[in-house]
Amino acid sequence: MNSELSMSDLAPLETAHVILRLEHDPQGLTLHWDDGRRSRLHALWLRDNCACPQCRHPQALERTFMFIDHSTPAIASAQLDQGGVLQVRFLSGDEAHVSRFSTGWLRAHGCALDALPERRGGRVLWDAGLGQHLPTIDYADYIATGEGLRDWIEAVQRHGIVLLRGVPTEPGQLLEVTRRVGPVRTSNFGDTYDVVSMPNPNASAYTSLGLELHTDLANWHSPPDIQLLFCLKSSVTGGDSVFADGFRVAEDLRLADPEAFELLSTQELEFRFHDASCDIRASAPTIAVGRDGQLQRIRFNNWLRSPMVMAESLVGPMYAALEKYWRMLRDPLYGLHLRLEPGCLIAYDNSRVLHGRTAFDPRSGERHLRGCYLTLDDLQSRLRLLERAPLKA
Ligand code: OGA
Ligand code: ZN
Ligand code: ZN
Repeated sequence: MNSELSMSDLAPLETAHVILRLEHDPQGLTLHWDDGRRSRLHALWLRDNCACPQCRHPQALERTFMFIDHSTPAIASAQLDQGGVLQVRFLSGDEAHVSRFSTGWLRAHGCALDALPERRGGRVLWDAGLGQHLPTIDYADYIATGEGLRDWIEAVQRHGIVLLRGVPTEPGQLLEVTRRVGPVRTSNFGDTYDVVSMPNPNASAYTSLGLELHTDLANWHSPPDIQLLFCLKSSVTGGDSVFADGFRVAEDLRLADPEAFELLSTQELEFRFHDASCDIRASAPTIAVGRDGQLQRIRFNNWLRSPMVMAESLVGPMYAALEKYWRMLRDPLYGLHLRLEPGCLIAYDNSRVLHGRTAFDPRSGERHLRGCYLTLDDLQSRLRLLERAPLKA
């Protein structure tokens, strides 16, 4: 049900669901939804989230109410009006306050634990089979339509990889593509970098060597979230691309060898990049997991890995665990192989998807990729803006 009530939120807060009835007591209230969901809402939680102009700044939309400066609120009355708006009257000591909550807001935020899966984006883990249906978007759709941009962002979130094809082969196009999403995430390699075989390279990427599957900038405390590689030239023999879903392989490792998984997710390894102008180091586990065990970030980069710093008794098991994960990553079951042709721009989630290339012969032709990075917060923000006003994209 739609309601006109402003919840001090620019996001669309709509729901088709209806609240059938509610019960309240001084400490909280319970909403009964038409699909059987029950949301028990704490009185202080409701009071703290009041969206009225006294409790949120009417322009900035940010909270101005400070619960610490008020007595504990008790619910004096609560009812639903015709438009589905919940009206609650609170008493805090001798202060009274009335708050109104739209059904859409309550559905989006009501802290029912069964709402959690709805709030998490759907992630699809993949293996080599994704090569048959790699998410692919035409540049023309991406650059000119909200739907194209949204499909691209959703592919990055769901599969962690998406191919843009038909990009005009001018070096400046990489930044045209990133501008649709947000500012470029810079690094010691600059805002953008040219992946070509060069004399006196300061990085393995700038040679014609094959590159083992890896994540970029593993030596940073916050490695870039999204990597983009735009192919300008690819007439060399060799230089094919390979990708693997590090989360899929980590989940399979967790089942196959829980001890190796445990070691890789708890013991830190250090990574380092150094050249004439910088020496950047960070330590972190290979597989970062959250408190409820969900995968957060893979860091895997053999050429940047520093000597291990850990008890000697752990060194053998750590090499064995790394080998296990690495061998699984190399298994053809998981590897997605493709050849980037001029006009192809591949983007992938560098916290999840590993990338690599086969060696190439620099005398056989030319190879030129231009790369840069984006930040996940900007990507998610752009998607929310598209949801807010799809026609304005
Ligand atoms: C890189 C990289 C892959 C390639 O620049 O980070 O891994 O195909 N390049 O050259
Ligand atoms: Zn208020
Ligand atoms: Zn790389």
